[in-house]
Amino acid sequence: MKIILGPTSKELGEKIAELTNLEKVPVAHRTFPDGESYVRLEGNVQNEHVIIVQTTSPPQDSRLMQLALIAEASKRNGASKITAVVPYLAYARQDKAFLQGEGASIETIAHMLKAAGVDALVTVNIHAEKALKKFPFPAKNLSAIPLLAEYFVQKGCKKAFALAPDKGAMYIAEQAQAVLGGEAGHLDKQRDRHTGQTTQTTEGLNVKGQTVIIFDDIISTGGTIVGAAKILKEQGAARIFTACVHPILVGDAAKRILDAGVEEIVGTDSVPSQVSQVSLAPLIAKALKAQESG
Ligand code: R5P
Repeated sequence: MKIILGPTSKELGEKIAELTNLEKVPVAHRTFPDGESYVRLEGNVQNEHVIIVQTTSPPQDSRLMQLALIAEASKRNGASKITAVVPYLAYARQDKAFLQGEGASIETIAHMLKAAGVDALVTVNIHAEKALKKFPFPAKNLSAIPLLAEYFVQKGCKKAFALAPDKGAMYIAEQAQAVLGGEAGHLDKQRDRHTGQTTQTTEGLNVKGQTVIIFDDIISTGGTIVGAAKILKEQGAARIFTACVHPILVGDAAKRILDAGVEEIVGTDSVPSQVSQVSLAPLIAKALKAQESG
């Protein structure tokens, strides 16, 4: 097995390489003046199982293209197997056709990667795990929620209330609760499929005087967390924190969340950012080691 540190996940890739003792294959990359991507492997991958670590957070399309180009170059240069490690898998939220005429974007991405030579995929907290069942190769989903919850235990927030911003994320709150040892619950979120506007409500949640940590897979515009924080304040929560696996934080999302009364935003290095306090490296290294020995 050899590892290629994709241009978007160099630091994370370095940590994974260190933990797994995998030999690194350097890759040169640049962008042509017209915007097209260029990659060239600078090492030998002949008869090797190649691991490519490349997250596909914004700008998603060029990063997906880089991943596909690295996979194709690896296959062309004799790699026996290619596993793509894609911590943030772009387009995963459109996992089905919600409205007539739409497609299932994540399936388009999976087939594109397959065509480029990818044989297996490892991702982290994909928005809906069931989407992986339709992939044309084996795909594994890891969860970083226990690592995020552990961060808060170390910070002294044991027994904090683990809150999911919608019912679908309740499994995330339950994973956090298993580490934190406090209560867990969820808000309800309705989305208008035409405008994208969401409304959040709560029923029967008692967080008065509690430290609450809102856990989510993704923070993008921050609207979900800002809305949740508003409800928690109305309900008398004493302290509010938030944690997510993929801190995309578009524009001034972080500022809006902090202005809404959230004390700290914690994310992972799935999307390298100022809030990436928790590394996915141990989680991914463990999964790769299991794959190597299995
Ligand atoms: C959607 O259901 C996801 O789990 C997140 O809650 C959502 O993507 C967050 O987006 P935003 O930060 O734009 O509200």
